[in-house]
Amino acid sequence: MIRAIRYVSVLLVVLLGGIWAAAWFVRAPNESVADAFMRQLARMTGADMPAPSTGGVQLSQGVSLGGPFTLVDQTGKTVTERDFAGRPMLVYFGFTYCPDVCPTELGTIAAALDSMGPAGERVTPVFISVDPERDTPEAMADYVSRFHPRMVGLTGSAEQVAQAARAYRVYYAKVQPRDSTTYLMDHSSFIYFVGPDGRVRSLFRPESTPEAIASAVNAQLRAF
Ligand code: NI
Repeated sequence: MIRAIRYVSVLLVVLLGGIWAAAWFVRAPNESVADAFMRQLARMTGADMPAPSTGGVQLSQGVSLGGPFTLVDQTGKTVTERDFAGRPMLVYFGFTYCPDVCPTELGTIAAALDSMGPAGERVTPVFISVDPERDTPEAMADYVSRFHPRMVGLTGSAEQVAQAARAYRVYYAKVQPRDSTTYLMDHSSFIYFVGPDGRVRSLFRPESTPEAIASAVNAQLRAF
């Protein structure tokens, strides 16, 4: 019995040590190892992201995403979450050099809002860059205008982007394909519906349809 307990204890220490080591490697820029460790634990226990459901994923009680950020919009003006207070948003993090996923998801946001008619006009589409090195305000202005006339493009310093990504628990990392001279950004791909208080109300998995997003957002807008 004692031997069994000892065996389990050793196993536990090895396991936690392993997660700690993994956390060291996967932590985001400026994230402490302790924060990354908690994130890894949450991911392993499935506590970080709610289970998929149709029409958007409701965040469970106690899960809080979103909040304060300081970024630079596509006109070069510094903005914070206070500039968006009272305005529901559909937010997506990505980068303008993205070959496929980002354009698809931004097209989905635009289609969802357009399909909602006047209600859609209450929602601001926001694209936040995880590639501030290349995504200047000018590049963002050009890019977002291709998707929706009201889409806001936000970028900033590496530090500002890292802080915004942390608030929304967005993962991103630079990757260098062997056969290319330009890098890509690996990044998580959720569409966030943010309430007028700046808190995320629901998130949509990649490849959610515009119809599913529109109906979930419509339902939530009635509550505001
Ligand atoms: Ni992308």
